[in-house]
Amino acid sequence: MKTLTITRPDDWHLHLRDGNVLQAVLPWTANVYGRAIIMPNLKPPITTVAAADTYKQRILSHLPADSNFQPLMTCYLTDSLQPSEIKLGKETGSFTAAKLYPAGATTNSEHGVTDIKNIYPVLEMMQQVDLPLLIHGEVVDPAVDIFDREAVFIERVLTPILADFPELRVVSEHITTSAAVDFISAQSDRVGATITTHHLMINRNAIFQGGIRPHMYCLPIAKREEHRLALRKAATSGNSHFFLGTDSAPHLTHLKENDCGCAGVFNSPNTMECLAQVFEEEDALDQLEAFASRNGPAFYRLPVNADTITLEKQAPDNIPAEVAVQDSATGIHVFTPPQALTWRMC
Ligand code: NCD
Ligand code: ZN
Repeated sequence: MKTLTITRPDDWHLHLRDGNVLQAVLPWTANVYGRAIIMPNLKPPITTVAAADTYKQRILSHLPADSNFQPLMTCYLTDSLQPSEIKLGKETGSFTAAKLYPAGATTNSEHGVTDIKNIYPVLEMMQQVDLPLLIHGEVVDPAVDIFDREAVFIERVLTPILADFPELRVVSEHITTSAAVDFISAQSDRVGATITTHHLMINRNAIFQGGIRPHMYCLPIAKREEHRLALRKAATSGNSHFFLGTDSAPHLTHLKENDCGCAGVFNSPNTMECLAQVFEEEDALDQLEAFASRNGPAFYRLPVNADTITLEKQAPDNIPAEVAVQDSATGIHVFTPPQALTWRMC
């Protein structure tokens, strides 16, 4: 049987939540990935070293004793965050990065930044201590069409940040457009971008296939087919600017199948299977390791994982349609790829 063995991957953009949801979703990441960048958009958000440290302990407490999985914690940037907290988080190793959510851009972003100038002293400190800035790159201007928010952000916000902080290391998270692919490709290696599983597999039609599909709704919203193709080309090229960030974002099913459904796709149970399929379709299986296991550590200046994972060319039978959550009437719907999967994890 055809098999593929690669260095163990990492997930450079992950939402684990807290409490019973954390307990339900964590094994799907910890069993496959060596490390993950943990998003700080909890309620309340993780804005201090103390909060990041205790959240990390809660994550670790749900892991089996023999697990080597490492959560890498991030700080949620607000208008009022003090540069001293960034400095402390860097010195203690509590923060691996800090995340910029424009206020109102996505789930739990209401405490985010209302004007980028408000955090210039914080960005100055991040540049000085070399703490990477992770960006949700969408403008919130209601006059800008939802499908244009990423491209407009590059012009209005990302370009000035890169010019004003020439040494700051920056990751443009979950890019969804050819404009972002072109922009990131043209930068030096201090700038990178994550790409999600689902944006490689669906375009915006999937959100409206025969009716409204709340489980295909995430932010940034999926774009036209030409953008999906540009993302696939970037991810499978081996180009070190691009690496895996699943943006796996669990929400309980009743909160997605709702009058005002939450944004987020939960894909950690089948991401590696999906990626093997995408990379095979692009005739680029030899680049999967670069995208999922090598380019991310290179950007974060961390060693690659020491062990490997193996996939085999066989339809998986171990991926649930939904993951149950303790004490919850509904579970979490797992991303349904547009075609049946043909690779499984060994
Ligand atoms: C994320 C979430 O639910 O926390 N949702 C999403 O659609 N991706 C937030 C985010 O990363 O935008
Ligand atoms: Zn996210």
